[in-house]
Amino acid sequence: MQIPKRGWSREQVFEQLERFRENDTPWREGRTWAYVYDPGREAEGVIKDAFVSYLSENGLDPTAFPSALQMENDVVSMAARHLNGDADVVGNFTSGGTESIMLAVKAARDWAREHRRGIHEPEMILPETAHAAFQKAASYLGVKPIIVSADPDSFRADVNAVRDAITDNTVLLVGSAISYAHGVVDPIRELGQLAQERDLLLHVDGCMGGFLLQYFARLGAPVPDYDFRVPGVTSISMDLHKYAFAAKGASTILYRDKKLRKYQMYACSNWTGYTVINPTVQSTKSAGPIAGAWAAMHFIGDDGYLEITRAVKDATDEIVAAVDAAPDLRLLGRPDMNLLSFASDSVSVFHIADEMKEHNWYVQPQLAYGSSPENIHLSINPESVRWVDAMLADLHECTEKARLLPSGELAPKIQEAFGHLSPEDLTEDVYQGLLAMAGIQGSGLPGRMAEINEVLNALPVPLRERLLVEYLNELFRQPESG
Ligand SMILES: Cc1ncc(COP(=O)(O)O)c(C=O)c1O
Repeated sequence: MQIPKRGWSREQVFEQLERFRENDTPWREGRTWAYVYDPGREAEGVIKDAFVSYLSENGLDPTAFPSALQMENDVVSMAARHLNGDADVVGNFTSGGTESIMLAVKAARDWAREHRRGIHEPEMILPETAHAAFQKAASYLGVKPIIVSADPDSFRADVNAVRDAITDNTVLLVGSAISYAHGVVDPIRELGQLAQERDLLLHVDGCMGGFLLQYFARLGAPVPDYDFRVPGVTSISMDLHKYAFAAKGASTILYRDKKLRKYQMYACSNWTGYTVINPTVQSTKSAGPIAGAWAAMHFIGDDGYLEITRAVKDATDEIVAAVDAAPDLRLLGRPDMNLLSFASDSVSVFHIADEMKEHNWYVQPQLAYGSSPENIHLSINPESVRWVDAMLADLHECTEKARLLPSGELAPKIQEAFGHLSPEDLTEDVYQGLLAMAGIQGSGLPGRMAEINEVLNALPVPLRERLLVEYLNELFRQPESG
């Protein structure tokens, strides 16, 4: 595709942008049980207007745009108080959970370089349920991830397994509040105690749950302690673009005090241009996301968040009860918030997900890993609450339909043909063979996903990852026409 010779009209631009949406997941109607955090039309309008009104201001230089600094300090301060931090807690606004986690890992690595001079190969200990963003941070930052099993029934971190994995190279322990896959809070109090005993840092990943869990607790849910009240917790990441309903590009990273936060910062005046001094990964950045987050917190307010929580909590309880009652479905762990997952011992969950798609629902398949079997994940959003009964009725019907579809036949064939291969063996031929077994032709997006999910599920993890990289490498490419 080339840049058009003559610029388009505003109408042409927006017509085309609208057309692009045609095949997107139908989030607007509340039928999407992942990815979108929708507070409803009125709040959405306010947040979008706030975002756009600050789109052009540059958050790079707080002396040029004190408005961005003011909004960031307001938002971070609200986040710190929300997590029961005292006046020493400091933090920054970031573009998302991954960036917040990246910064926490960098701070821990660089803190250890100064305080633990003997450590040349820093390690962090991750329960297998910790978000993949930690392994991404590890791979970007040269920190070794040590992955330990979680409790196979509750899917909470196993503190003894974490303790056993500590070595002289350990720089960071990690717990989640909540974990994405199963929606549960790790035993943060015990992890905090362990961190203190061993003089280690402890990061709590509250990207998904940090914000709304406070309201779940206020409504009487038995939420385990996870915030700055827990001794030993040294940093917390908490996203605003998830359950604080800010526009995407909004998260916070908070530290117990600025002695630790300083290791996340970066300065460079070792070149011919302006001095670069960045608290976070991004440099030039729109102030729009900060304005959107500030607007979300002010417009929805504490009372609004409590009401939203009441609605999603009741809906979650209803779904949990329905899954418990369904003979073919098995809840994984007991959710502490409004995210949950369920598996099946008798029906392919991948087929259930595809069947649900036929009924215009998006539910998220998750592959088997460690103690967690393949399953379906649901995030329960305010806009989805009115759909709970309809969704559960369809889930029942789709489970019945999925039972009749062929499944489980690919896995042994895949394991036999590819199970022994290492990622380096994934030549073009092998790659094409795998795609063919999954029923995928070319590099387009497949309609049904059950086969590809079954193939991925059956492959050893390194080969799975390699296959996905190859696939992604094909997906982002120049369009054929124009
Ligand atoms: C628990 C948890 N941590 C981290 C992340 C990563 O956040 P992001 O996708 O905003 O980078 C997620 C995303 O869902 C999450 O659920």
